[in-house]
Amino acid sequence: MSDEAALREAICTLAASLFARGFSVGSAGNISVRLADGFLITPTNSCLGRLDPARLARLDAGYRHVGGDKPSKEVFMHRAFYAARPDAQAVVHLHSTWATAVACLDDIDPRAPIPPLTPYFVMRIGGALPLVPYYRPGDPAMEPAIAAEARTARAVLLANHGPVVSGGSLTDAVYAAEELEEAAKLFMLLRRERVRHLSADQVAELRRTFG
Ligand code: 13P
Repeated sequence: MSDEAALREAICTLAASLFARGFSVGSAGNISVRLADGFLITPTNSCLGRLDPARLARLDAGYRHVGGDKPSKEVFMHRAFYAARPDAQAVVHLHSTWATAVACLDDIDPRAPIPPLTPYFVMRIGGALPLVPYYRPGDPAMEPAIAAEARTARAVLLANHGPVVSGGSLTDAVYAAEELEEAAKLFMLLRRERVRHLSADQVAELRRTFG
């Protein structure tokens, strides 16, 4: 199987797994991967639970649609990460419940809406998770707002919308999106409790050890 064929299968398998576990409902969410000469992205209005590898949208290196179904209306959201982060090989956008709940809170720190509660949140997300102001889905004005943050953050939370997560591989991006959802859930569950956060030294050690 070619690299591209394997990536097409992997997008559909991982998307179905996310959908089966409730990380995405209806036609919410989109996933892309970088190829040697372009990108694959899920079609607009497609259900992550029922993707067809042959119908994924194919974009050329200039993000022009060259094959498959009509691409997600949020190509620019993915482009913001690929342009800002040459190491990004995949981008996952979800409307997963807990991360989106945090993105709707009015009294969070927009520079760090989720505190460092657990090591895997720091290891997978990298310690930076800025909140990007609200834009309607599909609004191209979102691109510069995301790009400005993506230079120093692997993932962002879109206010009142959901998370966007990049990764050094498709699996990494999916794992990070899952870990972000768990961290958001823990944060919401513990919001009114007295909580012990990871210390600055513990976060620094994780960054040193796991990058
Ligand atoms: P698309 O169906 O165009 O990918 O949009 C889904 C979505 O998640 C919008 O935020």
